[in-house]
Amino acid sequence: MALDVTRFDLASIGPEFIEDPHPTLHALRAQDPLHRNVDGSVFLTRHADVLKVYQSRDMLSDKTEEFGRKFGRCPLLTHHTTSLVFNDPPYHTVVRKLISGAFTPRKLAEFEPLIDGIVDRLLDRVEEMGRFDLIEDFAKVLPTEIISFMLGIPEAHRAQLRGYSLAILGALDPAVPPDKLAEGNRAVEEFGAILGDLIDHRRANPDGAHQGEVLDALIFGEHEGRRLTREELIQNCIFLLNAGHETTTSFVGNAIGLLLDHPDQHALLRDDPDLIVPAIEEFLRLESPLQIGNRLAGEAIELASGTLSQGTYIHTSIAAANRDPEVFADPDRMDITRRPNRHLAFITGIHVCLGATLARVEGRIAIGRLVRRFPALAADGPAARVPLARFRGYASLPVRVT
Ligand code: HEM
Repeated sequence: MALDVTRFDLASIGPEFIEDPHPTLHALRAQDPLHRNVDGSVFLTRHADVLKVYQSRDMLSDKTEEFGRKFGRCPLLTHHTTSLVFNDPPYHTVVRKLISGAFTPRKLAEFEPLIDGIVDRLLDRVEEMGRFDLIEDFAKVLPTEIISFMLGIPEAHRAQLRGYSLAILGALDPAVPPDKLAEGNRAVEEFGAILGDLIDHRRANPDGAHQGEVLDALIFGEHEGRRLTREELIQNCIFLLNAGHETTTSFVGNAIGLLLDHPDQHALLRDDPDLIVPAIEEFLRLESPLQIGNRLAGEAIELASGTLSQGTYIHTSIAAANRDPEVFADPDRMDITRRPNRHLAFITGIHVCLGATLARVEGRIAIGRLVRRFPALAADGPAARVPLARFRGYASLPVRVT
């Protein structure tokens, strides 16, 4: 029987939605694709609508009002209203231009040997362990190392990054309890203090030996005569560190979770390692690490499912768009050979994920080599999901390789 979606409200979703949102998302897409939440915001679930919102130049990312209501004046507000992702041109353009030089295909090609080396060392280590947590001992290590390298984060601080990042990004969920807000504020303060010291030190020693090319681009770069302030530097570095490792950790974890749940697809990839290229797109489609996005309608917008007036606050369900039967045949079926695969895991438009190429390279090498090296890879106990609706990943995923 079809689910009754008239009572659905994004602000009061429960654990069953987090465990498996798709029965609800399918019902919303079929019956109420432009769903009004109690607070007047809309939740879009059709691929065509989500795509049009992201392609439109009239949709705004600035969240000063929305976050002001949600957070009040606090470090979380400063952070989320200063990072490039929640800003519009011209400030967004300045920050994006400063960092995009570090993400060109040529630059990323230079990273491949580094990624290869880290993955091979990790595989040796987990082989010795035999049984391990795929998230803690494998998935989170590579992206943390790479983004820390790009920003020049000293080794001593790297282990704390996922904790900070979950606390800060967790505050973006539709409903956040007070203890989680306090945790998020603490994380911004502590993480901000570490980065502030690093930035001050680099500014005082511009000629000293240093790893972080992206940090240097942010500190010393200029766009149309504009340099970033200390606060802007700190908050954009926090964002980059979070964006660079949290979603990629989930990407690798979700991919392995999917393969363990679909032995036929696992066998297919084991038998033909070249399938890793279309397979990573299928992992991203089925279990997008970022499931929900937001925009504010700067102008009225006409969508296939109806018209939204200026000022409408929009929630885009990337997860639902990626399983829209109008675009993907048999959308719940996992098919690692699926082509074309027009998923929106990295969205599109002016905020299209800057790290998409890097994430694909990391995923291809980490997932591809793990599957190839350990044909006996199997689940080894119950897994636990990260308890968030906006971000989808595992908190732990116990596996064994022998
Ligand atoms: C599988 C992994 C990843 C996924 C699924 C992902 C997804 C996304 C999405 C959906 C956005 C758009 C957010 C919005 O505007 O609402 C975004 C933005 C962004 N991502 Fe990623 N991301 C991933 C990995 C990375 C990595 C590895 C980096 C950097 C090293 C990165 C850096 C960024 C940056 C800088 C932005 C902001 C772009 C802007 O506002 O112009 N991401 N990402």
